[in-house]
Amino acid sequence: MSFQSYISGTGSYLPERILTNADLEKMVETNDAWIFERTGIVSRHIAAPTEATSDMAYGASMQALTAAGITAKDLDAIIVGTITGDQIMPSVACLLQARLGCRSIMAFDLAAACSGFLYGASVADQFIKSGMFRHILVIGAETLSRIVDYTDRQTCILFGDAAGAAVVSRVAAGNSSRIYSSHLGSNGALGDLLSIRGGGSRTPFSQEVLDQKLHLVHMKGREVFKSAVRSICDRAQEAMTANGMKVEDVDWFVVHQANQRIMEAVGQLLNVPVEKQLHNIRETGNTSSASIPVLFNESVRSNKIKRGDTVLMASFGGGLTSGAMLIKY
Ligand code: UT7
Repeated sequence: MSFQSYISGTGSYLPERILTNADLEKMVETNDAWIFERTGIVSRHIAAPTEATSDMAYGASMQALTAAGITAKDLDAIIVGTITGDQIMPSVACLLQARLGCRSIMAFDLAAACSGFLYGASVADQFIKSGMFRHILVIGAETLSRIVDYTDRQTCILFGDAAGAAVVSRVAAGNSSRIYSSHLGSNGALGDLLSIRGGGSRTPFSQEVLDQKLHLVHMKGREVFKSAVRSICDRAQEAMTANGMKVEDVDWFVVHQANQRIMEAVGQLLNVPVEKQLHNIRETGNTSSASIPVLFNESVRSNKIKRGDTVLMASFGGGLTSGAMLIKY
């Protein structure tokens, strides 16, 4: 017997506090015009001091479960893409399993940085296609404000906090929605371009780690930019080729919201009409693994992405990782 999977419901959560470019002008040597021109970002959401990644993930999950028309008891697995878990152990997925009141199901976090949601959705797709599971909750959630250096103007202007969720379910007879295929990649040789070196097993936490800010994000922006454009295009093209599709066959492109200029470069290289490109970076900044599911959910709720539409999602992030997924919503 063969099984197919589809996205049965989505949800998202953005914390209340907003950090604007004007606020950042008071924190580092920068200005609104530079930030907007170089990134397309005007503001980003920042988690409250009491809020952690699992809290935001919970909000997004509840919305996604309602949209999918199921309850937490129906879930067979939870997969969370994050690099900012509440704590090293237990995982955000296990914290959620308890808080949502799920059965004793498989729950784990995966570390693929900004590609975390697509990596997770791809794993979910395989478990559904194998016939093993019916409903899997996939989440991308990040509290990046806790790992950003707010004295480094090159990185602190980019990032925001958010959570996005999707329920990936087995397709029932008569439903034409489906995940066609996913295409994941990595280039570990370029891992140093975007890294957090301190606090792991090679350089455990110490006063030196704190003094040298090794527990915070370090990035070589220009090199990351170039690599991002190339790998997003490669993965997106692989997804279309694998399914015998061209840009004309895709209704919407949901590309990781890293920088407006990265998305524009991708759009130009792939010849994607601007009307098909979805964005929310202006108000969210780069929210890493949350970026794609948040934008997807907002686009569903604003009635842009409709049932039956063909959607291509593509991402890129620390690792370096990359991924694309082509679906019929
Ligand atoms: O999820 C994936 C994660 N990361 C990314 O996607 C990041 C990809 N990279 C980028 O988005 C861009 O490289 C940045 C937005 C980070 C930087 O933009 P850029 O156009 O690559 O600027 P740059 O680093 O080449 O810097 C140009 C100038 C420099 O000054 P000089 O040397 O030309 O005098 C910087 O010092 O802009 C200066 N600069 C700033 N000025 C005002 C750098 N950051 C700022 C700032 N405000 N925040």
